[in-house]
Amino acid sequence: MDHPQSKSTPSETKAAAATKLELTQRPRRNRKAEWARRLVREHVLSTNDLIWPLFLVEGTGVRTPIASMPGVERLSVDEAVKAAALAAELDIPALALFPNTDPELRDPQGSEALNADNLVCRAIRAIKREVPQIGLITDVALDPYTSHGHDGILRGEEIVNDETVAVLVAQALNQARAGADIIAPSDMMDGRIGAIRAGLDAESFENVQIMSYAAKYASAFYGPFRDAIGTKAVLTGDKRTYQMDPANSDEALREVALDIEQGADMLIVKPGLPYLDIICRVKETFALPTFAYQVSGEYAMIMAAAQNGWLDEERAIMESLIAFKRAGADGVLTYFAPRVAKKLKEER
Ligand code: PBG
Repeated sequence: MDHPQSKSTPSETKAAAATKLELTQRPRRNRKAEWARRLVREHVLSTNDLIWPLFLVEGTGVRTPIASMPGVERLSVDEAVKAAALAAELDIPALALFPNTDPELRDPQGSEALNADNLVCRAIRAIKREVPQIGLITDVALDPYTSHGHDGILRGEEIVNDETVAVLVAQALNQARAGADIIAPSDMMDGRIGAIRAGLDAESFENVQIMSYAAKYASAFYGPFRDAIGTKAVLTGDKRTYQMDPANSDEALREVALDIEQGADMLIVKPGLPYLDIICRVKETFALPTFAYQVSGEYAMIMAAAQNGWLDEERAIMESLIAFKRAGADGVLTYFAPRVAKKLKEER
């Protein structure tokens, strides 16, 4: 806040002089007014930094609320097209699509992931037809399609790696054929980036980018997302044999190094705010485009506190986003994307 100079009495002036420090550096000088703060500001958030994750559901004209994510809805394909048009209008560069698959279409192998006419593929085609200027990112992992809610194929107690990778390649190709611009594998299987790159190149999709969820942690903060895509109720056990241990940091660098060797064009660190140190290390070490995913639980925390009147919603949102930029992120996947883009546009 800017405090205007106040008039002081002579005795106050004397007391002030007696306590005056002899300082050559007074960092507060650079904060004395809004224009001065703007002048020295190190990081800026722009709409170019925003990726908007959308949840898809069957039907037409359908928007269903998600209780644990106030303000976020699952959208039928036609509604997703409208959202894409809004995103384009707001200069949001790209969307990330996540389907809530009909429970009847889920099976142990996640076969629906390979259906050329599945919800995600239909959404890609519809959005590309109506809003061709927006980038489309699709998630590669089997959890929206498996009856057990895991990202891979389950044999006994184990999520089997190599067999899963073969299916993920087919899933990525299915999305690329539908028109996806960026394939984003979030499954954390070993070797999937190289296999997907080879699969894409073999079908002449060499311009399809790979944005790897290279450092993805086994996190409690994905809870609301699992409500959104309908896997919470079905998930058996947890994902700790493939997603990373939150206690590890060097391991993230090894994961990232492997994904870059195998052909990743861009990286995601996930979750976001609790892992700013990882974003910082990854960006400083590899200097590849690096994105933070401000996940569903982070969204829910801010919204829940704000709804209770416990913090200022807009300020908390903006502060959380600039923190990603400060840590070195090139952009953020965030459910706040449309409202933040709107705000940034109004301020211009
Ligand atoms: C699935 C996937 C998850 C998220 C994105 N892709 C959840 C999980 O791994 O269980 C989480 C996103 C969020 O919480 O917002 N592979």
